[in-house]
Amino acid sequence: MKEILLKGTNICKSFQENGAEPRILQSVNVEIYKGDFTIIMGASGAGKSTLLYALSGMDSITDGEILYKGQPLNRLSENRKAALRAREFGFVFQQTHLVSNLTLFENVAVAGYMTKTAGPKEVRQRARELLKLMHVENAKDRLPSQVSGGEAQRAAIARAMIGDPGLIFADEPTGALNKSNSEEVLNLLSRLHENGQSILMVTHDAKAAVRGNRILYLEDGQILDELTLPAFREEDARAREDKISVWLSSLQW
Ligand SMILES: Nc1ncnc2c1ncn2[C@@H]1O[C@H](COP(=O)(O)OP(=O)(O)OP(=O)(O)O)[C@@H](O)[C@H]1O
Ligand SMILES: [Mg+2]
Repeated sequence: MKEILLKGTNICKSFQENGAEPRILQSVNVEIYKGDFTIIMGASGAGKSTLLYALSGMDSITDGEILYKGQPLNRLSENRKAALRAREFGFVFQQTHLVSNLTLFENVAVAGYMTKTAGPKEVRQRARELLKLMHVENAKDRLPSQVSGGEAQRAAIARAMIGDPGLIFADEPTGALNKSNSEEVLNLLSRLHENGQSILMVTHDAKAAVRGNRILYLEDGQILDELTLPAFREEDARAREDKISVWLSSLQW
């Protein structure tokens, strides 16, 4: 039995808009398991990002419950939620959101100091190791404006990993990258997964989705279906992509 990391029950989310309140998430029930590379797919506007931010506690929900390792995320105070996020979660977005006047190394280290789980010396050591693991050590002393998009995103992944998070949330992490940078970022995410890192990633790209071992399909704020796959192997990438495409066609994607 896989360990449940995150459990969402009847998650509803709506936004007030001109007096109306359209429901963006409609009673979503979902479990995210430890050690999985879980993917959320679905058309633009399906609610993928909304679900990711709800599950991470970054965004509030209108109804339902979210448990992270049994703790009710949606009922914690803002302070306790922020502390839990800093300690347990890592975030990677389409844009890196690196601090522009800090070097890549400083960006990673500062995020590490904020987790308050390790001393400064230990944090700096881990920052160096992670930047090396993410193949960006040569650029570590440069500012975000002085590196390529791929290097910046790899540093952002190092930053997400600095607190040794229980779960990495990624929203279209390759969305702003060219093909070769996307491949490298996906390779690095696969490597983290191989090493046991749990990842929850939103993507609309089958080439990125092949990295996952479980794919959820979201439509109109509901999970319509899911596909499970064996752990990713480079040599199976093509066959997996075909399988995902067939599955998506069956869902009228
Ligand atoms: N703050 C907001 N206020 C009102 N509506 C919102 C807000 N944020 C998102 N929405 C709406 O909720 C729906 C789902 O948005 P969401 O960003 O989750 O979609 P998505 O599946 O991530 O799409 P994409 O693939 O384009 O990123 C969309 O119709 C969007 O317009
Ligand atoms: Mg989105």
